[in-house]
Amino acid sequence: MWGGRFAGGPAAVMREINASIAIDRRLWRQDIAASKAHAAMLAAQGILSAEDADAIRSGLDSVAEEIAAGKLTEDPALEDIHMHVEHRLSELIGPAAGRLHTARSRNDQVATDFKLFVRDCIDESLAGIDALEEALLDRAEEHSGTVMPGFTHLQSGQPVTLGHHLMAYVAMLGRDRSRFADARKRMNESPLGSAALAGTGFDLDRNATASALGFDRPTENSLDAVSDRDFAIDYLHAAALCSVHLSRLAEEIILWASQPFGFVKLPDAWSTGSSIMPNKRNPDAAELVRGHSARITGDLVALLVLLKGLPLAYAKDLQDDKPPLFDAHDLLSLSLAAMAGMVADLEFVPEKMRSVAAAGHATATDLADWLVAKADVPFREAHHIAGSAVAAAEAAGKALDELSIEELQAVDSRITNDVLPLLAVESSVASRRSAGGTAPERVAEAIRAVREARGRR
Ligand code: ARG
Repeated sequence: MWGGRFAGGPAAVMREINASIAIDRRLWRQDIAASKAHAAMLAAQGILSAEDADAIRSGLDSVAEEIAAGKLTEDPALEDIHMHVEHRLSELIGPAAGRLHTARSRNDQVATDFKLFVRDCIDESLAGIDALEEALLDRAEEHSGTVMPGFTHLQSGQPVTLGHHLMAYVAMLGRDRSRFADARKRMNESPLGSAALAGTGFDLDRNATASALGFDRPTENSLDAVSDRDFAIDYLHAAALCSVHLSRLAEEIILWASQPFGFVKLPDAWSTGSSIMPNKRNPDAAELVRGHSARITGDLVALLVLLKGLPLAYAKDLQDDKPPLFDAHDLLSLSLAAMAGMVADLEFVPEKMRSVAAAGHATATDLADWLVAKADVPFREAHHIAGSAVAAAEAAGKALDELSIEELQAVDSRITNDVLPLLAVESSVASRRSAGGTAPERVAEAIRAVREARGRR
């Protein structure tokens, strides 16, 4: 399709390094949609006869049917999906196929196809996020009052509710959703009509092709349009950060399922065994979600570095934009689906969580807060007194909430009986009613707010 000025053909290795069909065949739907929009516009502008446009349209439909039926034969000599589609079209309809490429280049063609593909990826990722969010909301609702240890430095800090902990991931996913939605809005401009790099002398209607393909408008600058891959990087950034959130959740599930924690039992559907240790129940899916986030992050870095030193406009380096995008999208889709399934099926062990939450004198802050609120003690001094009470409990081999009132008063005489019930983990979480806090009623409110927002979408 470009051999007019060449006397010899490419070397075998040249052909091999140049061919991208094995990868970009995934763009076939987008390629055919963009070609149909282009041909219809050329006809409407009087650049293509109605007869040729008709032949091209029905020919492209036939090519689409063939590819959908698995009948695309890859030929490295035809390089990429664009040339495969056009070549097959010419076999089906003859010379009229040669008019389709009028006022078009593979440079604006591939930018358009790839954008359409990334736009679909965004929509799929948003649906995946939705499904995981739904699973988290259900489990958070079920456990809005279940007490578990809250950690800082992975040391028991203060008791929290499991519902609150799960809702932290709903908050992260909310930001992920907004990043994907934002990327979609920003990318939604059509490169088609930018041609090779400089635009074209033909009287195109770029608004028509843009709206036929669901774009908000045509791109502004032809040089930028054929060499811009920011939209793929925006997608990869949103995907990498989302995968990092999934990885944090995966890591917690792995920890919680381990014997020293014992906070969850991994259901059979989400575990694998060991070929040598019959006792094993391994959290492989969670581990792979954690591992996939490394690859997705690598995909983002690959595309950033690919663009970094490229002069305007198109260069063949850009052909390497697809593998990282496809890889990240496939991995993220699988990770989101696996996490949604795991979250829905996890068997939490509330007794174990509660007993660990109660250990480690986790309500020492509640004692200090009581001294501040009820005995007018400055917080710094109250902190010191509560610390002494923890030391007294440790010396007596007891938990803080097992100390008698006499033992507490030996630490500070201002402590009175009414503090005792407040040292239970349930009272501690119930008292944390500040906005965004862990009290069961706040968690229930947070769940309601997210469900309402979902209903409005
Ligand atoms: N297969 C190429 C890619 O994915 C299409 C664009 C080729 N353009 C060119 N002038 N050789 O980037």
